[in-house]
Amino acid sequence: MNENNDTVFVKNLSIKDGDKTLVSDLSMKIEKGEIFGLVGESGSGKTLTAKSVINLLPDNLQLTADEIVTAGKSLLKISENERRRHVGNNVGYIPQNTVYYLHPMIKIKNQIGDGYIYHKKKGKDEALRKASMLLNKVGFDNPENILNFYPWQLSGGMRQRVNIAMALMNDPKLIIADEPTTALDSTVQRQVMELFSQINSELGISILLISHNLGLVRHYSNSLAVMYAGQIVESGYTKEVFSNPKHPYTQLLIKIIPSLKIKKSEPLQEIPGYVQDSGRDASGCLFIERCPYAMEICSKYAEEHEDKGHYYKCNLK
Ligand SMILES: Nc1ncnc2c1ncn2[C@@H]1O[C@H](COP(=O)(O)OP(=O)(O)OP(=O)(O)O)[C@@H](O)[C@H]1O
Ligand SMILES: [Mg+2]
Repeated sequence: MNENNDTVFVKNLSIKDGDKTLVSDLSMKIEKGEIFGLVGESGSGKTLTAKSVINLLPDNLQLTADEIVTAGKSLLKISENERRRHVGNNVGYIPQNTVYYLHPMIKIKNQIGDGYIYHKKKGKDEALRKASMLLNKVGFDNPENILNFYPWQLSGGMRQRVNIAMALMNDPKLIIADEPTTALDSTVQRQVMELFSQINSELGISILLISHNLGLVRHYSNSLAVMYAGQIVESGYTKEVFSNPKHPYTQLLIKIIPSLKIKKSEPLQEIPGYVQDSGRDASGCLFIERCPYAMEICSKYAEEHEDKGHYYKCNLK
C-alpha cells in the first residue's frame, strides 16, 4: 500500500498517560477527498486520536505509533519544527469547543488571518482579502462587516462559519472538525453540514468529522470508524457498515439513532453500562460488560476481521 496517497494513515497508535492506556493499537485510513466520520461515546478517545494526527497531543501524554501520515507526510520521520510547519500549511482544524477558539474580545479581522500570515508568510492586507473571499464562500453576503465584528457579537452558527473560513485560509488538504455542530440548533446544524459537504465536493478537501451523532455521520460520511474505550471496534464504508453492522456496539448505536432526521446533538441515549476508563490495554474485548452476546473467550481475546475494507473486532462471526 502506498500510504502517501491517503490523507491520513495511522498504524498502531497508542496513547498513554503514564501507566494508563487511553487509546490502544488504533489504525485508520482516510482516503483523499473523502469525508470520514469518527464516532463513539464521550471519553472513547476521538479528540486524542485527532490531535495525534496533527501533532497537538497534550504534553503530559505519551504517543507511540508505527506510522502517522498526515496530508502525505510521515510525521514520525520529521523534526518537531517540520511537523508544525507541515500541519499548519496543510490541515485546517476546528477544535471541539469553538466558543473558546476565536478570542471573543478581538475583532475577527485581527485573528482570522493569523495562521495564514504565519505559515504562508503573507501580509495582513492579502490575508484580509482572502478572508473576505472565504467568508463570502461560507455564506456571508457582507464579509467586510463580519471582519469588523467581535466573535461575541455572532451567533453560534455564524461563529462556526467563521471558524470554517479560517480553517480554509491555508488551502488545506484536510480539515478536522471536532463535534462541529454540537450546540447548534437542527436547522443551523444542517446548514453547517451542507457547507462541509460543499467544501468537500467543490474543493476536494478531505474531512475528518468527529461526532457522537451517528445520524449525521451516516448522512454525510463516505467512511467511518466506531471507537469504543480507546479502540476502533468497527470501520469501513459508511453504507456497508450501516447495512451490515458486525460489532454489537455498532448495532446498538444504530438502534438508538432517534431518526434519520438530523437532530440537535445530544449525548448518546442509554446503552446500559459505561465506557471504562481503565484496563484499556486488556487483551480481551473491552465491550464485554455491556455486550448482550459476550462469551467466555471474550475476556481473553477479541478476533479481528477484515473483508473488502470492512473491519471489526469481535468473536462473533
Ligand atoms: N490531557 C489528558 N490527560 C489525561 N487524560 C486525558 C487527557 N485528555 C483526555 N484524557 C482522557 O482520555 C480519554 C479520551 O479523551 P478524548 O477527549 O479523546 O475523548 P472523546 O472521545 O473526544 O470524548 P468527547 O466525546 O467527550 O469529546 C478520556 O478518558 C479522557 O479523560
Ligand atoms: Mg472529544
